[in-house]
Amino acid sequence: MAGDIISYSSDKKGIVTSNTTPDDLSSDIVSLRPTSFKEYIGQTDTVETLKIAIQAAKMRNESLDHILLHGPPGLGKTTISHIIANEMEKDLTVTSGPTLEKGGDLIGILTNLGEGDILFIDEIHRIPKVVEEFLYPAMEDFAVDFVFDKGLHARSHRYRLKQFVLIGATTRVGLLSSPLRDRFGIFRTLDFYSVEQLVVIIKRSSMILGTITSDDGALELAERSRGTPRIANRLLKRVRDYSQVKSHGKVTRKNVKAALELEGIDALGLTSLDRNYLKTIIDFYKGGPVGIEAIAATLQEETDTLVDVVEPFLLKIGLVLRTSSGRKASEKAYKHLKLEP
Ligand code: ADE
Repeated sequence: MAGDIISYSSDKKGIVTSNTTPDDLSSDIVSLRPTSFKEYIGQTDTVETLKIAIQAAKMRNESLDHILLHGPPGLGKTTISHIIANEMEKDLTVTSGPTLEKGGDLIGILTNLGEGDILFIDEIHRIPKVVEEFLYPAMEDFAVDFVFDKGLHARSHRYRLKQFVLIGATTRVGLLSSPLRDRFGIFRTLDFYSVEQLVVIIKRSSMILGTITSDDGALELAERSRGTPRIANRLLKRVRDYSQVKSHGKVTRKNVKAALELEGIDALGLTSLDRNYLKTIIDFYKGGPVGIEAIAATLQEETDTLVDVVEPFLLKIGLVLRTSSGRKASEKAYKHLKLEP
């Protein structure tokens, strides 16, 4: 649908418009989300930068600079935007790059924003060029330029917008044009979470869900969550179901191992897609180096899925190496898959 938007009032009660509910906005996940920086675990430097910017903006009675958040999916880009809106006590409108098909889709949203309101554009690197051009004056001068007629009779009219805050989220900052990137005053990259941070997140989520999770259960789950809170919370729900049906309800290490084995998730948290990606490099391309397009073609997967979802964690834990001539499986990858180099 063109221009799908979801608007939240600052008290989080009123969803004004919602044509679709993306995965990470479904109500059960929203309820596990921290709603203030006080409850937020991890991303310490980013949180500190944002807290200072928010406090300074409030002291000066101004609105925030535009913010660009970069990082793999599930690390909290959307959550942070909700928190910023909450802490600024402003309304948040959520949309995404691919749903903004025409200039009009964006203008409709921009003209409805109030003073200091937050506009969150997910996957901002996928905004079409024609729409991006409306963003420049909107971000810089808080105005949109309408052009009537063509050629000799062309006239343009500048429409003033309220001073809004744009939060852009992207998994691929390299795909953003530099004029767009340069218009953000704050740019932060989110990093994978440590196992210790995930343990705290899992304990917190267990409490919200009313589930008892043992220390070793939380640790086992954290180790298998690919450094990603969204994955930890999703898997926690699967393990909670398993523990309730197959055991006495408590999330223990044994239950985590058994439930995640059923889900095809191994001791490092790799899914079957991760393992197939590594096996493709090893079996088809003799361990690499091999180009990403060749891997995607062999696996019959989208290149974007591999680059955005699969590779970042495999690179982080050193199972795959990126060289100028392509991807290579590391010695650690052979060991993990119990294969001979
Ligand atoms: N749930 C998901 N992400 C979280 C975070 N960073 N802190 C606390 N709870 C979370």
